[in-house]
Amino acid sequence: MDLRLTEIQEAARETARDLAEKKLLPAAAKLDASEAFPDEALKELAGAGLLGMRIPEAHGGAALDMVSYALTLMEVARADASVAVTLSVNNLVAETIERFASDELKATYLTKMNEPAGLGAFALTEPQAGSDAAGIRTRAELKGGHYVLNGEKTWITSADRCGVMLVVAVTDPSKRSKGATAFLVDGNAKGMTVGKHEPKMGQRASHSCPVFFKDCKVPAANMLGKEGEGLKVALSGLDSGRIGIASLSTGLTQACLEEMTRYAKERTAFGKPIADFQAIQWMIADTAVDLEAARHLTLAAAWCKDAGEPIGEKAAMAKLFASEAANRSAYRATQVFGGYGYSREYRVERLYRDARVLTLYEGTSEIQRLVIARGLLK
Ligand code: CAA
Repeated sequence: MDLRLTEIQEAARETARDLAEKKLLPAAAKLDASEAFPDEALKELAGAGLLGMRIPEAHGGAALDMVSYALTLMEVARADASVAVTLSVNNLVAETIERFASDELKATYLTKMNEPAGLGAFALTEPQAGSDAAGIRTRAELKGGHYVLNGEKTWITSADRCGVMLVVAVTDPSKRSKGATAFLVDGNAKGMTVGKHEPKMGQRASHSCPVFFKDCKVPAANMLGKEGEGLKVALSGLDSGRIGIASLSTGLTQACLEEMTRYAKERTAFGKPIADFQAIQWMIADTAVDLEAARHLTLAAAWCKDAGEPIGEKAAMAKLFASEAANRSAYRATQVFGGYGYSREYRVERLYRDARVLTLYEGTSEIQRLVIARGLLK
């Protein structure tokens, strides 16, 4: 892997850093408190060509390589993890459409996904099936030229704002993992209703909603891949998604390091800045090591994706390490701030809450370990 960034990669990072510092960070605390969807932030990102980073130029996107994408997400997450996850899911869906959809579906949806009104949502998880993706129960039955969807999805990012939803449903219940199929469901489809977004501990400006399908008719032409390949479509999409979450985690770790370093120099105790105490220095040093290791694993996985190499295990390693490192770092940052770190007045309190979901969504840490071990033992 070449550790030097290309001019395009440097430029993507600088554009994102500038926008994140000037527009996203100043708005983040208010969005968190109000749980308001980040409309303005997404408009800004769309204006800078960053909403559809992984969308091909032919469909109006920036067509960024995966390393540029990862660097951009790190900068966005450093300012606001809610915005970063919204961006990440949009690009995960766009990339999956680009890979598995017909030209007609690409033409219908990809261009719109460069704008906030056309956001993509990814509907795999159900109330009784999170880690066990093959345990989903939402049914899709072929009737005439349509599949009719019935069932319930949960925790669906941006569902209440999406223009298109990638939905995985069971077409043959006798076949378990080979009996699921992926579809694109239009955001305005009749028979699809979206419930109120969940009140969450962190990443509160990203909306996670239940979705209900009641005799929702989806044209057979809206299938992604072939019938029975739904899990392959979804899980290969999640391989890239996990690089996105690893990037997001790395950005959040960076924010923790910056906050704790600044505060340790400002705050005095026992007659000197707390940065002079070894206990504090060790926490800063451990966070810096976590950051560097998370960044390397994440960029290595992104680089492999750009090189066309298999990424399943590398993405799982990056996601596992970076998400756990972000949680360790947020814990340390809070510790350095002492009681102030527990106050809603300080940014580290939000970072601590925003970090927690990183080891849960897009595959828990336990699922990442399973993916890594399976790869080693096969
Ligand atoms: N790429 C392509 N295909 C894959 C794949 C991948 N990475 N991983 C598995 N598959 C294929 C398998 O080859 C298999 O197909 P065949 O039977 O034809 O060979 C099929 O998919 C099923 O795979 P498994 O037999 O391995 O299935 P399993 O039941 O043993 O489960 C699992 C495997 C790794 C546990 C998987 O279910 C998994 O990753 N679970 C976690 C799901 C997850 O991450 N959910 C997050 C949802 S999104 C989200 O969090 C919200 C958000 O928007 C932020």
